[in-house]
Amino acid sequence: MTPRRLIIAIDGPSGAGKGTVAREVARRLRYRHVDTGAMYRAVGWKALREGLDLDDERDVSALASRATFDLEGGHVRIDGHDVSQAIRTPEMDRAATRVARLPAVREALVRRQREMGEQGGVVMEGRDIGTVVFPEADVKIYLDAAPEERARRRAADPAHANGGGVAEVASALAAGDELDRTRAASPLKVAADAVRIDTTGVDIDGVVAQVMAIVEERGRTYSSRSR
Ligand code: DC
Repeated sequence: MTPRRLIIAIDGPSGAGKGTVAREVARRLRYRHVDTGAMYRAVGWKALREGLDLDDERDVSALASRATFDLEGGHVRIDGHDVSQAIRTPEMDRAATRVARLPAVREALVRRQREMGEQGGVVMEGRDIGTVVFPEADVKIYLDAAPEERARRRAADPAHANGGGVAEVASALAAGDELDRTRAASPLKVAADAVRIDTTGVDIDGVVAQVMAIVEERGRTYSSRSR
């Protein structure tokens, strides 16, 4: 019997390790990896390029609804532009956080994300995957880590350090997190049925092993039920 292809949701704040863990879990399972943060970043990038006001919900959501996204092979393209590198800067961190506050932008992107994942066989990472995009996801993981550790990881990433030290990265990260957690539309929160994993001081292989164990357990439950 072919095992059922699951929907795996990985949520959590910046620097919790979602990207690395989601990519590796998808690779091992031969599932598709969808980084939804990259979609918000790409919309922020394109809105800035078109000279839009990032708080203008109507204009930015029209752009998000029209846009084509291509997230294959680790690249991020919006309307044919490869923005994989351009969206990983402190300026795009801020632009993404601003456009992600707008409910109509979220609606447009959530619709795309559901289309990308509804067939299963997907590891989707973001802030609202287990709560809003796929509340019925087969596996829900919430990754977290101590703020100092998240800031250290971000600062070690040349795309985000911007020449500043850990302290500067830490305050930008804290400000962005606060906006993500307190916004009215789909704030970052832990789904009631998510498994929470604290990645502070745990290496990536250890976290991936924990997630794979949960996925395998869930896969077994389904195949024994369908027998
Ligand atoms: O994960 P990231 O840092 O690339 O996300 C960029 C911004 O988009 C960040 O402010 C959180 C927001 N985001 C969101 O609101 N919902 C998602 N599903 C993914 C990201």
